[in-house]
Amino acid sequence: MFSDQIRAHFLDFFQQRGHLLVPSAPLVPKDDPSLLLVSAGMVPFKTYFLGLSKPPAEMLTSCQKAFRTVDIDEVGSSPQHDTFFEMLGNFSFGAYFKEQAISYAHALVTEVFGLDPDRLHYTVHPQDDDSARLWERVAGVPSERVLRLEDNFWQAGPTGPCGVDSEIHYDLGPEFGDGPGERPGRGRRFLELWNLVFMDKEQFEDGSVRPLRQTGVDTGMGLERMAMVLQDKRSIFDTDLFHPILADFDSRARGRVEGFQRLRHLRILADHTRGACLLIADGVLPSNEGRGYVLRRILRRAMVSAQSLRVEGGLVPGAAVVAQILGRQYPNLIELMAPIETALEQEQERFSEVLARGLGRFEEMLASGGRGISGEDAFLLHDTFGFPLELTLDLALSRDVEVDTRRFQQLLDAQRLRGRSSRASSGAPVAHLELPPNSFVGYEVTEVETVVTAVIAGGETGRVAEPTAEVEVVLAENPFYPEGGGQVGDQGSLSWEGGRALVLDSQPTPGGPALQRCRVEQGALSVGTRVTAKVDPARRAGCARHHSATHLLNQALRDVLGPAVVQRGSLVGPEHATFDFSWPAPVSSEELVLIEQRVNEQVRRDLHRRVELLSVEEARASGAIALPDEAYQQLVRVVSFGDFSRELCGGTHVDTTGQLGAVVLTGSRSVGQGLRRIELLAGVAAEHHWQRQRELLGEVSGILRAPAPEVPDRVRALQARARELEQELRQARQAPSGPESTILTMPKGVRLAVGDTPLDLEQKERRRQADHLLASVEDGAAMLLAGGHLMIRISEALIAKGLNAGTMAQAVCRGLGGQGGGNQELGQGVIPEAGHEAALEAVRRVLGSALEEA
Ligand code: SER
Repeated sequence: MFSDQIRAHFLDFFQQRGHLLVPSAPLVPKDDPSLLLVSAGMVPFKTYFLGLSKPPAEMLTSCQKAFRTVDIDEVGSSPQHDTFFEMLGNFSFGAYFKEQAISYAHALVTEVFGLDPDRLHYTVHPQDDDSARLWERVAGVPSERVLRLEDNFWQAGPTGPCGVDSEIHYDLGPEFGDGPGERPGRGRRFLELWNLVFMDKEQFEDGSVRPLRQTGVDTGMGLERMAMVLQDKRSIFDTDLFHPILADFDSRARGRVEGFQRLRHLRILADHTRGACLLIADGVLPSNEGRGYVLRRILRRAMVSAQSLRVEGGLVPGAAVVAQILGRQYPNLIELMAPIETALEQEQERFSEVLARGLGRFEEMLASGGRGISGEDAFLLHDTFGFPLELTLDLALSRDVEVDTRRFQQLLDAQRLRGRSSRASSGAPVAHLELPPNSFVGYEVTEVETVVTAVIAGGETGRVAEPTAEVEVVLAENPFYPEGGGQVGDQGSLSWEGGRALVLDSQPTPGGPALQRCRVEQGALSVGTRVTAKVDPARRAGCARHHSATHLLNQALRDVLGPAVVQRGSLVGPEHATFDFSWPAPVSSEELVLIEQRVNEQVRRDLHRRVELLSVEEARASGAIALPDEAYQQLVRVVSFGDFSRELCGGTHVDTTGQLGAVVLTGSRSVGQGLRRIELLAGVAAEHHWQRQRELLGEVSGILRAPAPEVPDRVRALQARARELEQELRQARQAPSGPESTILTMPKGVRLAVGDTPLDLEQKERRRQADHLLASVEDGAAMLLAGGHLMIRISEALIAKGLNAGTMAQAVCRGLGGQGGGNQELGQGVIPEAGHEAALEAVRRVLGSALEEA
């Protein structure tokens, strides 16, 4: 049975039994900071199990993309382990519990998939007598096939819904096993196919467990493993889900590694390339942290294998094979093929640099260090050369040497500790001070009468601040937004009886009050001073407009580019904002236009802002976009604009999007690998922007004396002309600068500059040299003889006297057996045979008599 059919049969089975089919969620969990990647089918449904939000139906079924790294070291060596996998599941939220779940599972595996009941084994939790009885009663399973195992308990992460589980295992036969003593859950002979979890508790952070209001069922069947059984294969890598990928790498592998090592590398290549494509398609890009690091790690592991097998073309061609197999199920693999390939290629390039640098060092270590790689050496490779430990281990394995991984780990731990303490000591300078709490009133008002509760200067509290002193101040009620969530701190003023201070900035303190940095201008400010605190309204309004604009942009980017766009940070100020997000490809100018249009449509819709304070779970369930690694408090603030955008956010915003006036995206650029930055301007800043643009264009069209629409053509023409001139200049510089010249005095004091060169110059160059000669004799004449060419130039003064260079050239050339002619200022001709002397003589004669007659 093909894997596509297995998927379809499973989902049909449950749909026919009243379950609603839901599509797979992306691998990046939506608003769930407790998880790096979606690791099970139930992850998107956590809040339904907890009763925090209502599921779209009481019974659901799905085929969910999942990713696990716990067994990453097993991948390759084991026939059954992978990182990315597909989990088929059925879910009940109070609709049914153990009995129905067990009866469905039994019917599906034996009747639909036709597995031999004699090869099926079951496990239950030791305290779960119900399930043990049900397997016997509902499914007719003999009691000796139902094994009680302590670890039959399942939870999705450190907190959340959990409960006992019951598993179905398939006996692959003794030839798969590692020897006697194997049973479900131990060894490779019994393959776990399906896990049924009976959710009835919730695990809390403090370790306590409380019963759920309603019970639930969460089941998960591994598609790859089911395919292995139904396709009668010895490993998941022989199924139709993996085999074409392995075959592709195999056909491109030029290395001589054979046997199990070859197979191991091929499996690593297939699994990790497949996993990487799905991660990238869902918005993950290689980095040194979090999910980006998971991706980098599998890619580097795969690239080590590609290196060992000398795979021609590396990982990139594998992506298309992955898309061929899974593209119908997950169309973003096809839609995003180009960015996926680019990301793979870029990582491959980086890796080859790392490899080139580190390999040399590795060889030196081996040469000097004898038989092994010390922990210090492995750490140096990791820390300075960017070698993941796995790579060092792999290289060491290929050379049959050991790596001291214990020492490596010690060094790594020590480094992490150092990192933490240095961060702590560079924290806010006021961290050690006891500061009074304050309340932020800036969402409601921008001006308030309040009292100063602390004045801090030079790291001490309780000072009296006098003019020009810069101090930090705590206000009992604070209207100044302290910098956070990308938005800069507010500015403004404090005024009191006889005094005034400027508020230059507002900053939060960890877990403490906001601090206003102030410069006292007049009077004295001390604890107890009653002040009027006033936020600079124009600056605040500018920040609010830009902050709201980034929310609209965030959603518009997802609408235009795809849901894989993930915000990575922003800077929101009164004059402009920048918005960073991960996206593997450049944003084209057409896309930028579409995004800008989408944002401005929302401005024109004049959407109302709504702010809600929700529990974290409610917020997540309501689909609010969050920064992936955002720190959560118990209650979060969710800011929405109509039906368009919804985000967790603590910032200040406009009341309706119409107040933005307009939003201009001034450009997009790359600010790191896979990281883009868009700059935007809203409201007054947008207006100033296009005013500036208009002025600039006006100035340019003034200089060019051309109306604006003609400016581009004029500039292009100027550029072309400049190129021509540059070309001429280059030629002129290459040619000899001026001819050798002699100056003769003719009748009436007129001077004749005579130049002579044997070179057969081009006409343009002859002209240039003749001009040059003429310039050396004011009001005179010039003759140039270049090869067999004669050129005569005369000044304006001589033309005014009635002389004609053309006539003279004609007379001279004819007299010497050649041809000549020209106009008043320039005469030229050919005198092939005549030498310099004869030519000069002829010119002197003709010019002389012309001057006499003039
Ligand atoms: N959540 C359980 C598992 O992942 C069943 O779906 O095994």
